[in-house]
Amino acid sequence: MFSSAAGKHHVSTVDRFEFGRNWQQFAAKVTPERIADAEESLRSMLQMRGLEGQRFLDVGCGSGLFSLAARRLGAEVHSFDFDRLSVAAAIELRGRFFPEDRKWNIEYGSVLDRSYLEILGHFDVVYAWGVLHHTGALWDALVNTVSCVGERGSLFIAIYNDQGWTSRYWTGVKRLYNYQCWTRPILVGLHAPYLIAVPTVVRSLTGRPAKADRGMSLWHDLVDWLGGWPFEVARPDEIAGFMSRCGLVMTGQRLCGRRQGCNQFVFQRMP
Ligand SMILES: C[S@@+](CC[C@H](N)C(=O)[O-])C[C@H]1O[C@@H](n2cnc3c(N)ncnc32)[C@H](O)[C@@H]1O
Repeated sequence: MFSSAAGKHHVSTVDRFEFGRNWQQFAAKVTPERIADAEESLRSMLQMRGLEGQRFLDVGCGSGLFSLAARRLGAEVHSFDFDRLSVAAAIELRGRFFPEDRKWNIEYGSVLDRSYLEILGHFDVVYAWGVLHHTGALWDALVNTVSCVGERGSLFIAIYNDQGWTSRYWTGVKRLYNYQCWTRPILVGLHAPYLIAVPTVVRSLTGRPAKADRGMSLWHDLVDWLGGWPFEVARPDEIAGFMSRCGLVMTGQRLCGRRQGCNQFVFQRMP
């Protein structure tokens, strides 16, 4: 059981999806092509050619792929995750690509733990892709994440889109996936044709490579999507309004529209 510094959040580790197990398997399959795609995803959304000399915070780092990408782009990186297997996956990745590196720190931590974040201080780039909606306290996690963004710093987040009854459907699927082991192969069998086969065919018909975005893997994204619990959603206008009240200005967004998945946003803290 985790309790935040304020003692407000009680997120049971028992009914959570084991993100880290999935990320450990993925991390073992990271290739130079995936790393290049991950780097490009950072560069294009942040509208930066590199991250030389910047402090980069990877909130909920998962496999560590985006920390690795940021490090290769020149940033000094701090990565943390609430799942110890995610932390282990990221450490293994660092061992493969940046052994003995002093400019990439990886540790266990929670974005709901305000006192932990205060110790970390402020960053030039804060990255929380697909994380905050899995904490069990999305809006508190957003407040805490924003507090890490330094002056003129950037915040790159991805949050599940609120799609009304469709989101309610996926909430049920995720609950079922985490209910007992035997439900998993059934749910994978039911959804893989729609979540893997259809996008693969559509991509090849439109001449795009049949691979997942950001250097990810279709299979590991599927497992993450079906299992990812806790799960919350938000509309783009809710996120934009919230950030504006925090004094952050939107500098980029990529909305998923009617497709499943996350809306991506980049905000900047103005002086
Ligand atoms: C869907 S994965 C995304 C991983 C990575 N950011 C990426 O883009 O591939 C969500 C990650 O958030 C982590 N997470 C969930 N709750 C967290 C919390 N309270 N603090 C930090 N990380 C958390 C999970 O353990 C998991 O590794």
